[in-house]
Amino acid sequence: MNILVKVFERRNSIIAWVNNKPILIVKYGDKLYGMDAVCAHMGCALLTDVNGYVATCPAHLAKYDVRTGELIEKPVVRPEVPCEYMQVKVPLKTYKINVTPEGFLEVEE
Ligand code: FES
Repeated sequence: MNILVKVFERRNSIIAWVNNKPILIVKYGDKLYGMDAVCAHMGCALLTDVNGYVATCPAHLAKYDVRTGELIEKPVVRPEVPCEYMQVKVPLKTYKINVTPEGFLEVEE
């Protein structure tokens, strides 16, 4: 992957495309974590809202622990709107993130 680890000097998360899948890579503390970037609820992209190790889906605010892929807060949907929560498959897949000697990110499947 042609992404330098120093991208995390300016932000705490990025999306990388690996084998045609979006992977959310988060720097939390001095560690890097990778997780599938597609919400298990209804498939929205987990793109931008990462606070510490918690990624929040912009659609219905489900929260995931990027260290484990576990759902830590259920989606919030109005009672009158059908919820497909029963179809949720968690945890989301997680990935080990390595840094090459040249300083590039590497996603281990
Ligand atoms: S699609 Fe992510 S919480 Fe609904």
